[in-house]
Amino acid sequence: MCGIVGYIGTQKAKEVLINGLLSLEYRGYDSAGIAVLENNKIEVMKEKGRVSNLENIPGINNLSGTVGIAHKRWATHGRPSKENAHPHMDNSKNFAVVHNGIIENYSELREFLTNNGYHFLSQTDTEVVPNLIHYYFNNDKSDNTLNKFLRAVKNAVSDLKGSYALEIITPLYPETLVVVRKDSPLVIGKGHNENFVASDIPAILRYTKDFYLLDDNEFAVIYKDKINFYDVNLNIHNKEIKNIEWDASSSEKDGYEDYMLKEIFEQPTAIRETIGSRFRLGEKCSFDDIDISADYLKNVHKIYIVACGTAMHAGLVGKNVIEKLCRIPVEVDIASEYRYRNPIIDENTLCIFVSQSGETADTLAALRLSKSHGARTLAISNVIGSSITREADYTIYTHAGPEIAVASTKAYTSQVCLIAILGMYFAEILGSYPQEKIEKLKADILDLPSKIEAVLENNEKIKEFADKVYTEKDMFFLGRGTDYNVALEGSLKLKEISYIHSEAYAAGELKHGPIALIENGVTVIGIITNKDLVEKSISNIQEVITRGAKTLIITNQVLPNNNFNHVINIPETSELVSPILSVIPLQLLSYYISKNKGLDVDKPRNLAKSVTVE
Ligand code: G6P
Repeated sequence: MCGIVGYIGTQKAKEVLINGLLSLEYRGYDSAGIAVLENNKIEVMKEKGRVSNLENIPGINNLSGTVGIAHKRWATHGRPSKENAHPHMDNSKNFAVVHNGIIENYSELREFLTNNGYHFLSQTDTEVVPNLIHYYFNNDKSDNTLNKFLRAVKNAVSDLKGSYALEIITPLYPETLVVVRKDSPLVIGKGHNENFVASDIPAILRYTKDFYLLDDNEFAVIYKDKINFYDVNLNIHNKEIKNIEWDASSSEKDGYEDYMLKEIFEQPTAIRETIGSRFRLGEKCSFDDIDISADYLKNVHKIYIVACGTAMHAGLVGKNVIEKLCRIPVEVDIASEYRYRNPIIDENTLCIFVSQSGETADTLAALRLSKSHGARTLAISNVIGSSITREADYTIYTHAGPEIAVASTKAYTSQVCLIAILGMYFAEILGSYPQEKIEKLKADILDLPSKIEAVLENNEKIKEFADKVYTEKDMFFLGRGTDYNVALEGSLKLKEISYIHSEAYAAGELKHGPIALIENGVTVIGIITNKDLVEKSISNIQEVITRGAKTLIITNQVLPNNNFNHVINIPETSELVSPILSVIPLQLLSYYISKNKGLDVDKPRNLAKSVTVE
């Protein structure tokens, strides 16, 4: 949540900061602000709402300083307002701070500082940080060396409980920008005579492809021409630089009206890249990044797939695949539940964490919990070097490219695809599923990119349906088996970007309660792709038609002549991976409903792309 950007170099910092904030806007849009060192003092400008409001502040274009920090807020403590917007300064106006994360003990620290004569202008947890830095700086009677500043930052963060990625500037040391992180993401981009900081790589990808990924409890003092890294005890150390191959243009809109639409249409490529060279027909699946032995896998008596939101829905599809191919029980858990329910984990448990961003706080905490109980951990992420990937025993990457729209689309289908490949990889190690059937599944997976292209050709048809239903208040999604998993994801997409209330039900469960909600004219979307369950699914849809529902059916089967209002036909594939095709009409439907309602598709209200707070 929240996004931060920093710059130190020779350009006008304001330009780089605003560009970075625009790229990070998906991380929250309650307020935006920047602080720039200007003639030996800190100039702060901030505004409620979007970055465009910040850009309209009179005088902002006059900022000419070359050192600055910036922030996009997703409110946790204190309502969205100008005074609660970052950057925050200490009372002496010598230290400006932007913060992503949550300071859990801020009331205690606020009381301590108040007792020491400090006062506060905002309701945020963050405002204690610059004041604590000032407190330690002022009480350090040594000479005014840079170490004094760094020591003050270190002492201040030692008092903090919670999570933080912090950027700090001060006119006392105008040649430096100091950063530190714990449990919140922060990357440093290395340029030529300039350096950049951001919450994530795409925000500054247009400026550099060379990145340092800051570790937890690591500090960096950034100059325009060098970067020094320090451990928690302020011992200096070297750090490896990483070259990121992502193409900057892949995080731009490429002529599409919105990122979400672009990302929906990128799914053939995302799947192709995720398959990569991980298997070929007639050859065993392999992962460069993991090496799991048959001996280990034979002793695994349980697999957990733990994730949040859409990634958790991908996990539900993954459960079907792994259980069917490997006959190992798989439990799918919501990370925020898993971490507090004392799950049964031991060294024979394999825990898989699925996270597009690799930064989701609950998923990361669940990973740490699993490790502390001796389980092996495997991360599935889309972001190289993200926190989850750095802490897991093994990591495999989806290669979906940067996903900017808050509502996840190509990351979901890539995650489903990757878990299916992982399931085949395990099954081949275990010999738990007939090889000819695995080969058939491989062929189906290899065909997915072209079949996705075929599904995308339904775009206009779905748009027409959206035109008919966009004013509705409620919708229902029904399916059985993996179709139910897709129903859950379709319903989530609709809520996220169209603000329409919707429910997803296992079709057979409807009659046990929710059918009471079906009345004349309500829209029900049925997904029917499992040929063994066609009859049963149709019967359930008939139950709602009888009660006056209007129906849209997504299917890859030839259905008997029925009284459905609309049918979208999609290509047939193995039911284990059919969600990769059947979810696409649902993604498009939510997209067009949202557009019809005039909503901001890429930045839905109250949501953030990367949820780095609990
Ligand atoms: C947020 C996003 C969702 C996403 C979830 C998990 O809620 O809005 O789209 O599915 O976080 O994110 P992750 O990065 O862990 O996959």
